[in-house]
Amino acid sequence: MTPLIIAIDGPAAAGKGTLAKRLAARFGLPHLDTGLLYRATGRRVLDAHGDPADPATAEAAARALRPEDLARADLRGPEADAAAASVASIPAVRAALLDFQRDFGRARGAVLDGRDIGTIVFPDAPAKLFVTASAEARGLRRWRELAGRGLAADLAEVTAQVRQRDAQDAARAAAPLRQAADALLLDTTELDADATEARALALLRERRGIVPPG
Ligand code: DC
Repeated sequence: MTPLIIAIDGPAAAGKGTLAKRLAARFGLPHLDTGLLYRATGRRVLDAHGDPADPATAEAAARALRPEDLARADLRGPEADAAAASVASIPAVRAALLDFQRDFGRARGAVLDGRDIGTIVFPDAPAKLFVTASAEARGLRRWRELAGRGLAADLAEVTAQVRQRDAQDAARAAAPLRQAADALLLDTTELDADATEARALALLRERRGIVPPG
């Protein structure tokens, strides 16, 4: 039997990560937050005082990535966000990270969340969700997340940054953020984490006949 792949894509702060973790637990599958690959690549470039927009430097960093890089504590924050978005727009970086993602999924099945999982990484995944929410709702979530980590920020500024990063992810030539034709749309603007999970499980069951084991 082919192991199950659940592909979750969508813009920043739409609730993909929380949903991916919960579905992984429900289905007994490993979870990969693929944004961490781009974040860790950007971080490696910054460590070496390189330019995250330079293709050769960024590709070398992506190829040198080790699993322990994904556990670093400094992968979030404005500097890491910007470096990740830069390296993510470089085709050679995306190509270098493709095998890691595919090997991860093929081993035992997986829930992967990112921007191009359903379109590029696993185009044949039987379960694809495109998770989104209004920019205002996503800005507020990101702002709360920062506040929870003790980082004071301006809500309007955080929302503007979320919009700007989405625009960058959607406009880039290499694997732009878009909904796969066969992805199920899940708008979380009015949903909390529990309601999002319930809706995702209902969509997978009703539209794809996929239910958690047990
Ligand atoms: O989901 P995130 O904010 O951690 O992602 C960090 C950056 O990496 C963001 O600019 C989008 C990009 N990314 C991507 O291009 N493809 C993915 N599969 C995951 C993330």
